[in-house]
Amino acid sequence: MDIRKLSDALGAEVRGIDLNEPQEAATVEAIRRAFAENLVLVVRDQRDLQPEAQVRFCEFFGPLGKRSRPADTRHEKSDEPAEVMFVSNRRENGRYVYTLPEGEMMFHIDQCYVETPARATSLYAITVPEEGGDTLFGNLCAAYDALPVDLRALVDSHRALNVFTYDSTQRDQVGNPSKRREHVQPMVVRHPVTSRKALYVNRLMTWSIEGLDAPTNEQALARLFDHEERPEFVYRHKWRKDDLVIWDNQCTIHARTDFDPGKDRHLRRFTVAGGPLRT
Ligand code: OGA
Ligand code: MN
Repeated sequence: MDIRKLSDALGAEVRGIDLNEPQEAATVEAIRRAFAENLVLVVRDQRDLQPEAQVRFCEFFGPLGKRSRPADTRHEKSDEPAEVMFVSNRRENGRYVYTLPEGEMMFHIDQCYVETPARATSLYAITVPEEGGDTLFGNLCAAYDALPVDLRALVDSHRALNVFTYDSTQRDQVGNPSKRREHVQPMVVRHPVTSRKALYVNRLMTWSIEGLDAPTNEQALARLFDHEERPEFVYRHKWRKDDLVIWDNQCTIHARTDFDPGKDRHLRRFTVAGGPLRT
């Protein structure tokens, strides 16, 4: 096995391993260390990775996460683990039947609108378009460390409301109060292994900072979002078929670039469950 950094921002690429096979304890330990250090792992060339093997990989990092959204029986298949989701634009009878089928998606943190968001999320690329549909990952530990002093004082002493309506990809779709889920979270969390602080806000879902009036809120959030999305904190993943990617969902943000809706994009998704966020 060979592990190499993917960018200055974050991420490491793992080669020379076949995750369909069980791994030795020392290999698992090396993968865990690389994940704590790099926050995103890209494991290349996982040909025909079985759902059970993707689950076993996720369980290197903790217990498998339950799906956060209501079960969608339209695409349940009995031979797949119940925790599976597909990020996919495949259709049945002309209709999308999976999650996040189309288009660009703003930077976000999965499930930050519930009390115990997933610790990590993994995607396995079954089919991806040649162009577009890249996933961008931002390092929230580096973003925290580089905050200007006034913003650092603000996030260290405030909490923020995070909201989401399923399948929203842009902030202006999130607002409908009758359908949305929401939770107040700290604006700074600590990495569970390294104890590094991370800036816990994102453009898609972080709605308001507690105790600030509307104009102050808007201004502060705009500055925080622009800051954490700066190119020096971001790695852009261009998918290849058979990539298995896992990201730290407490210390990174991720976003998706646009792609041709006529091109097949089908990824299998499992999460690692998280406990209460550490502050
Ligand atoms: C997700 C997600 C991005 C993508 O699965 O949580 O944001 O590139 N996916 O499809
Ligand atoms: Mn996501």
